[in-house]
Order: sequence, then C-alpha cells, then structure tokens
Amino acid sequence: MSGANAIREERLWQRHIDMARLGGTPKGGVNRQALSAEDAAARNLLAAWARARGFSIFTDAIGNLFVRREGSDAKALPVMSGSHMDSQPTGGRFDGMYGVLAAFEALEALEDAGVTTKRPVVAVAWTNEEGSRFQPGAMGSAVFAGHNRLDEMLAVKDWDGVVLKDALATTLKAAPAPLREGKPGFALDGYVEAHIEQGPRLENERKTIGVVTGIQGSRRYIVTTEGEEAHAGTTPRAARKDAFAAAMRIAAAMYEATNDEGDTLRFTIGRVDVQPGSPNTVPGKTSFTIDMRHPSNDVLEAHEKTLHEIVASRAAPCSAGIERVTNVAPTDFDPRVIDLVRTKANDLKLSNMDMPSGAGHDAMHIARLCPSGMIFVPCERGVSHNEAENATPSDLAAGARVLVEVLEALANR
Ligand code: GLV
Ligand code: MN
Ligand code: MN
Repeated sequence: MSGANAIREERLWQRHIDMARLGGTPKGGVNRQALSAEDAAARNLLAAWARARGFSIFTDAIGNLFVRREGSDAKALPVMSGSHMDSQPTGGRFDGMYGVLAAFEALEALEDAGVTTKRPVVAVAWTNEEGSRFQPGAMGSAVFAGHNRLDEMLAVKDWDGVVLKDALATTLKAAPAPLREGKPGFALDGYVEAHIEQGPRLENERKTIGVVTGIQGSRRYIVTTEGEEAHAGTTPRAARKDAFAAAMRIAAAMYEATNDEGDTLRFTIGRVDVQPGSPNTVPGKTSFTIDMRHPSNDVLEAHEKTLHEIVASRAAPCSAGIERVTNVAPTDFDPRVIDLVRTKANDLKLSNMDMPSGAGHDAMHIARLCPSGMIFVPCERGVSHNEAENATPSDLAAGARVLVEVLEALANR
C-alpha cells in the first residue's frame, strides 16, 4: 500500500472535530489563542495521539511541538511538515489546524502502509502563528529559523501585559513534553506545509489542489498617538490634544495612500485601543495596528516611508510614534518542491493550479532554511479568520494524499 492509499478521510475529519472542541465557540468556530489553556489542551491531545502511535514527541524553548517518526538512517536530516494550532480570537476550525493534522495523518498513513523512509519525518505545531495575542505572528517558526531572537520573543507582552515567557511556562506545565535543550532550530532536508487556501480562487476555478509558488511580503506596525486627557464637556477645540482624532487623521490618510488601482496592496487596521476609554474624557493615548502586505518588497518599503511622512505631518498637536513589529520579505518556494507537489497532484489525478499565497504561513520562515513548499486545499467561499470557515472532508483528505506522497519522496532523497 502507498502512503496516499493509507490516508483515511474519516480519521482526519474526526481529528478536526475533536480539536475544534478545544476553544470551540457557539458560532462553530474556535478561540484557541496562542499559549492559552485551549492551546495547551490541543497540545496534549496531539501528544496523546502521537504516543498512541509510538511516535516520539519533543518541544523547544519557544514551545514548538514536534512529533517524530524515525527513518532507516538515523543520521539523515529529517523532512518536516506542519502548521499551527493557535487561532484568531474568532477563528475557524481549519486555519493552521489542518496543516498539523494533515502532517500527523501523513505520519499515520506511512505507519499503516508499513512504509520505511530513509529520513525521519517530523510533524510540527509551531507556536503562535496567528500573532493576534502576542506579536509578531509566525513566532515559533521565526525563532526556529533565526529570523527573530528567542530572548526578545520571550519578553513580548500580550495586550493585557502578560509576558510570553510566563504564558509559555504555564502552557508547558499544563502540556508537558520533553525539552530539546539549546536554542530552537535544527537542520532540515525539506519542509512542506498544507493549509486551507483562505481565499476563493480554488473554489472558483474548481480545483482541488493549490500548488503554492510563494508568499507575499508582510509588515506590521503599532502606531501610537499621545495627547492630553481633558474634560469632554468643557474643553474648547483649540485647547484639545485629542489622541484619537490624531489617530483618525493618520488612519484616513493611510487608507487613501494605500488605495492602489490594481487592488494588490492589502492594508488593514485591525485593532484600536483608546485610553483612558471613558466616554466623557478626551482620549490622551491611542494605539492602532497596521497590517500591510504586497508581493513586492519595494512597494512595502515605499508605503512604510509614506507612513512615516503621514505620521510626522498629521499628528499635531499630538505626538506620535511607529513601532514596526513584523517585516517578512516575499518568499519564493523552491522550484523542486513546487514541481514535486504538482507532479504528485497530477499522479493522484487531482485537479490543481499554481498560485501564490496572500496569507502568511510558517513556511515563509522555514523556506530560508531548507527547500520548502506548500499545498493548498479549497475552503468554502474563501472565508477565513472567521468562525464560519469551512472545508470538505474529501478536499482535506486530497491535500493529505498529496502531502504524504511529497513527504515520502523527500524523505527518500
Ligand atoms: C496569518 O494568519 C496571517 O495573518 O497571514
Ligand atoms: Mn494559518
Ligand atoms: Mn490565520
């Protein structure tokens, strides 16, 4: 039996249902934010499944969780596959979780089919991909790949002031796994990540598999404006230093500046915090996030310059500052991995198309370490970062079939 024939659609689907209970929301989505109690529960469930199959598990200093199936050559570099188990606050059941469960299904399929690979095959659940609670996102893979420093990431605080190091310690206490000592990161021979598309192209084009060619660049900022708290009923306009009004001027100018004709630039303000948050006090401090994406680094650079100009010119009479919390250049996946994904999809008679990724993924960091690629499957109406996110059991299984074939090929190189 081949790995692909041993993929079990019902098992893969049931694992999604089991995981969706952890942080499940009344609207059918999940709230399983990074390093929460729900995240710990998901880690425990994955670890229990891994142990039941005789795979070894381990974690590292940023909490990435690895499941390893040995190969015949103990010295050969492993190939790896996975994604993330953390979610947006109002997230769906498949974003990230599919990539972890597809990788785990691939390990189980290899086991069930009695396939021996030369290299070990490792499934991974990266810590904090979403970056909605702790910034930056894709943190576990970024530290693994050396893009971000471990000590700096451990010191990051969430919006309530909880330090990541403490949240990680609590999580690993609730979901213990043997610790791989030292700095995160080890050599890999290849990496392939499966993910729902999170956009409508596959569904519109009636294709089952997206052969992912790369990921657009992304940058994230926190813009802070500072003014002066004052009485809402008595303070004349000329005497006000309204931090929210300054933030609004900056935001409006940025919406305008990023309104490109081709609709390629992605610009989002997703979080605004107004202090002291009292209806009858003029706001003294405001901060808001900017998430900006484009396939060209030069375009992102130009818009960063614009942001600095706008902040400098629109904040008065308030003061303002910009903190850049993420800067990931566009990623081109390895042509050999791209070809392999396409070839295996064709061998399995699965309709497919080449496509870039608009969303960020852990693969963007791992691609700097080893030959990497991604496999997309359709999701309903392209809806994602939404509790209504949906995908079909058969599409999920199709992606897992391609994945196990690609992993097997890479693991026997
Ligand atoms: C990942 O969720 C992203 O923001 O692209
Ligand atoms: Mn994701
Ligand atoms: Mn996401």
